[in-house]
Amino acid sequence: MSDLTGKNIVITGASSGIGEALAIEAANRGARVAIVARRADRLADVLERCQQSSPESTMVVADLADLDAIDGLASQLIASLDGRVDVLINNAGVPKRKRTDQMTSEDVEGVMSINYFSPVRLTLALLPHMLDRDSGDIVNVSSMGVHMAAFGVSAYSASKAALEFFTEGLYVELGKTNVRAHLFVPGTTASEFSTDKPGNNAPFPSDPATTATSEEVAISLLASLDTETFVTYTGEREAQTSAKRNADVNAWLANMRQVFTGM
Ligand SMILES: NC(=O)c1ccc[n+]([C@@H]2O[C@H](COP(=O)([O-])OP(=O)(O)OC[C@H]3O[C@@H](n4cnc5c(N)ncnc54)[C@H](OP(=O)(O)O)[C@@H]3O)[C@@H](O)[C@H]2O)c1
Repeated sequence: MSDLTGKNIVITGASSGIGEALAIEAANRGARVAIVARRADRLADVLERCQQSSPESTMVVADLADLDAIDGLASQLIASLDGRVDVLINNAGVPKRKRTDQMTSEDVEGVMSINYFSPVRLTLALLPHMLDRDSGDIVNVSSMGVHMAAFGVSAYSASKAALEFFTEGLYVELGKTNVRAHLFVPGTTASEFSTDKPGNNAPFPSDPATTATSEEVAISLLASLDTETFVTYTGEREAQTSAKRNADVNAWLANMRQVFTGM
């Protein structure tokens, strides 16, 4: 487990689930964290726990759907970390569990806004800061939804696929610098994400045998900071599923169609 002493880490979506676990784990390893989300009470509770091991950690309450406020948010985050962001973890995200024939354009644009446009805006706002110092790590959190063609989540998967391709481009373009882009792909994780949410169909029943805890996912994600490899999955199961899909996407999709529709 890597020591994060001296690192200043921004974590979005830290009021619950994976982001909460990340903030606490990073603070326990010596990082100073700046955590972001909308629910001030929940964020304050997470911050209090982070400050037990990392007293200078801070929080910023922000709605990442307000894309035009993100440049200001980035300046606030830099200031709150005494002028230096070492790591940006774009973790905040929302589900969109709706079949395509039930979906509205607002559904599609809403999920794109949080899951794609907001991490891109925050990356664009903090990248010059990292390039000026020729140092930094940007971790974008995707989903196995992209790698499985899961049923009834096409707009969600598309928003994460957009983030994946953006991150690929960044990884390649930053080759000559000491700023690194990482893609992190969680599988099913126990969190509020898979609970009833307005504007979403009921969550899929999850199999405890294949559901990770947020703490396990946080540990896998932080390990990705130690590697030059582009993509890290929660574990070997997710990596193998993705490899199987990539090896023969036609066979994979035909099988998914059979499983979900009988056709
Ligand atoms: N759980 C899974 O099975 C799973 C699987 C694959 C990928 N993921 C991805 O993992 C990431 C974390 O999800 P999770 O499982 O930890 O879910 P979660 O417990 O629901 O956490 C989502 C976080 O995002 C924040 N957020 C949502 N909308 C926001 C907004 N408009 N502005 C600011 N913050 C916002 C939430 O905070 P507020 O509500 O306080 O704003 C919360 O802190 C997401 O990107 C998700 O797509 C999850």
